[in-house]
Amino acid sequence: MSEQKTVYLADYLPYSHLVDSVDLTFRLHPTATRVLARLKLRPNPDRKDRDHLRLDGEGLTLISCRLDGQPIAPTVDAQSLTIAAHELPHAPFTLETEVEIAPEGNTALEGLYMSKGMYCTQCEAEGFRKITWYPDRPDVMSRFKVRIEADLPVLLSNGNPTSQGPNWAEWDDPWPKPAYLFALVAGDLRAHSAAFTTASGRKVDLHIWVRPGDETRCAYAMDSLIRSMRWDEQVYGREYDLEVFNIVAVDDFNMGAMENKGLNIFNSRYVLASPETATDDDYARIEAIIAHEYFHNWTGNRITCRDWFQLCLKEGLTVFRDHQFSGDMRSAAVRRIEDVATLRGRQFREDAGPLAHPVRPESFIEINNFYTATVYEKGAEVIGMLKSLVGEAGYKRALDLYFDRHDGDAATIEDWLQVFEDATGRDLSQFKLWYSEAGTPQVKVDEAWDNGVYTLTFTQKNPATPGQPKKQPKVIPIKVGLLNPNGDEVVPTIMLEMTRAKQSFRFEGLAAKPVPSILRGFSAPVVLDRKAPAAERAFLLAHDTDAFNKWEAGRALAKEVMADIALKGATVTSDWLDALASVTFDDSLDPAFRALCLRLPGEDDIAQTIHAMGRLPDPAKIHAARREMTGALAVRLGEGLQRLYKDLDDNAPFSPSAAQAGRRALKIAALGLLSRRDGGKLAASAFARARSMTEEIGALSALLDLRQGQAELVSFAARWGRDANVMDKWYALQIAHADPAEAADLTATLIGTPGFDWKNPNRFRAVIGALAANHAGFHHRSGKGYRLVADWLLKLDPLNPQTAARVSTAFETWPRYDAARRRLARAALDTILSAPDLSGDLREMAERMLSAG
Ligand code: TRP
Ligand code: ZN
Repeated sequence: MSEQKTVYLADYLPYSHLVDSVDLTFRLHPTATRVLARLKLRPNPDRKDRDHLRLDGEGLTLISCRLDGQPIAPTVDAQSLTIAAHELPHAPFTLETEVEIAPEGNTALEGLYMSKGMYCTQCEAEGFRKITWYPDRPDVMSRFKVRIEADLPVLLSNGNPTSQGPNWAEWDDPWPKPAYLFALVAGDLRAHSAAFTTASGRKVDLHIWVRPGDETRCAYAMDSLIRSMRWDEQVYGREYDLEVFNIVAVDDFNMGAMENKGLNIFNSRYVLASPETATDDDYARIEAIIAHEYFHNWTGNRITCRDWFQLCLKEGLTVFRDHQFSGDMRSAAVRRIEDVATLRGRQFREDAGPLAHPVRPESFIEINNFYTATVYEKGAEVIGMLKSLVGEAGYKRALDLYFDRHDGDAATIEDWLQVFEDATGRDLSQFKLWYSEAGTPQVKVDEAWDNGVYTLTFTQKNPATPGQPKKQPKVIPIKVGLLNPNGDEVVPTIMLEMTRAKQSFRFEGLAAKPVPSILRGFSAPVVLDRKAPAAERAFLLAHDTDAFNKWEAGRALAKEVMADIALKGATVTSDWLDALASVTFDDSLDPAFRALCLRLPGEDDIAQTIHAMGRLPDPAKIHAARREMTGALAVRLGEGLQRLYKDLDDNAPFSPSAAQAGRRALKIAALGLLSRRDGGKLAASAFARARSMTEEIGALSALLDLRQGQAELVSFAARWGRDANVMDKWYALQIAHADPAEAADLTATLIGTPGFDWKNPNRFRAVIGALAANHAGFHHRSGKGYRLVADWLLKLDPLNPQTAARVSTAFETWPRYDAARRRLARAALDTILSAPDLSGDLREMAERMLSAG
């Protein structure tokens, strides 16, 4: 459809003009909204050349254009409005445009659109150009005033409310901002309100706006917001800076949430929660995302990005901050394990495939395709390493300097690293490779024990990635502890700083050969390659004082067992079963931690590991191996499971606390295993007695794994049929737990039900995305999974290319598999590429994925 060009970091040039202020008037109408924009402009003194004025715009009907009050006829094409240099004054001038747009027909959910009768906007990254003519780039920052005219009760925009009357409202944002942070909402909404007093004593009104009826489900989000505001004051010294903070929940949203200045807009699934409708995981995600968007107020809004190549400047840092926050609110160890599991499941997978790219990419076609696990999750890990290297105090000095020096700026990664160099005196030139080189380093570990001297030797390999065949050695902070054979810790955690391709570290004065605990806390986003006997892993699972590595030992053991079963038809080993049994029944350990240990490695993860060993993963065999391990575990844990379940099945009133969530997680893990022994009796009664959505979903999952639960699915739908967020779970759960041979057919059946509202991104992901996430189902040798997903991507693409492109990453692992599967996957990608009118978004993804083979 649209001819798309590659954009390069190296081509950056400041904008020709400065925008001193923006006045916007919106006359809202579903099919004919008028947007009047008055821009005060002047030539940018940083640009010596006298350039023309080029504004971005897409799908706008130009009604009028005036320069300093005089009507003019600028040059307009499909993407820009241009006024020639010789027509522009040398001094400041005013440009007024009026355009017409049609929010009702906007299915892409970018720009101004409608969701169930409510108007809302999404401007990041380049959606503002669908609203009005403007320099839509983050380094152009300006002061926005907004007037909204509409016959609707609630009219919101950024900043502070200044005045309002019947059917209109005016807003003024005192903080200069880039256009991507603009937001507008109008609709029949209800508020859940509270107030917050900042550290310096200013009162802030807080409102969460939702559709009528939903205001009873906002308490947890509000509580999370208040805790986030307090935490950012206490930990980073950052106060909120407006009189109001608004959050709006919408049902049709492409991503999780958006940090618009003073007016965050959220996917309703990350706001609304009650014990009956939200699982414990939902509660944890709501807390994290509310915090994330709030934290953007400083890391993203007050300091924004110079250009979209610097996206990790705000996203990596803000993810890092929300991880810190969740760690402080909950169990830090459990959070760390969960975060690393996500990193490995999404980012390592991305880094190992055709879509691999650096944390700071150097070129892109469609920026929406770069809101990735690498930019977000690896971007956060890079900051974690930086913090380890400069220490707690160094990190604090650097951050204070960052806020001081760059408040109000559109900054770069160079600016970010410079504050660390200036605050700590450290040379970060080698560290910077983490931003420019893609791929997950592999760190091989060798050990030697000789005359009382213990030596650890690390060798790093940095694998080739698309466009980057050769890599340089990276700085890798490796946190290590040493344990005595009796289980005592002889060397508590120290940080080894690896800077060369191969490097040894010596430990002297030890009485016996120690057992090493390496990469404690997952101190760097690398793959550790260390052959260790099962007994040593079991020893660490029992004795390691580092919670992450304790869990990691069990996981490594489980992965080896699973890979051996899948590859060689081995049987489940008693080493693993015994080690896991002792953790499961160790009441001195946090229940949440024990539940994590009982969660077996994912099938996609094992496929990745087998591929990295140079072997072909067979999805069906991996699936069977995982089921076999679950069965063997159920037998090994035996009667103890019943006791565990009973102990955890208390009558305490519901609380979303991490402690209670941990108990529920362990109880559900026990229930899943018990079901293997009792044919589903306990799970059926647990479903009937469930007092929270966590328990309801846990019991239903156990039944679905036994190929039961049909009656329960019917009653679930009868109860929750009118709640879209809950019904998303109903769709996703059945597909996730379907037999691999039937997953595609089941998905097709569900697609045929009236509830499959495929234009809603949440529902599309709950159905099509769920099939893509069922590893053995999606990669079933019939090819049905590939075809069904490809067909639906093509169907969604003309309406919502952004979501279609995101879901298409289902195919990023195709080069891992056997020739027959590769042929089928390639055929599916070819079908996508040959579609007429394919969006630039999906085309870029399909081309990059196909380029791998
Ligand atoms: N900046 C948002 C965040 O990380 C995410 C985001 C980027 C987004 N582009 C979007 C959200 C498009 C919705 C739609 O918090
Ligand atoms: Zn973000």
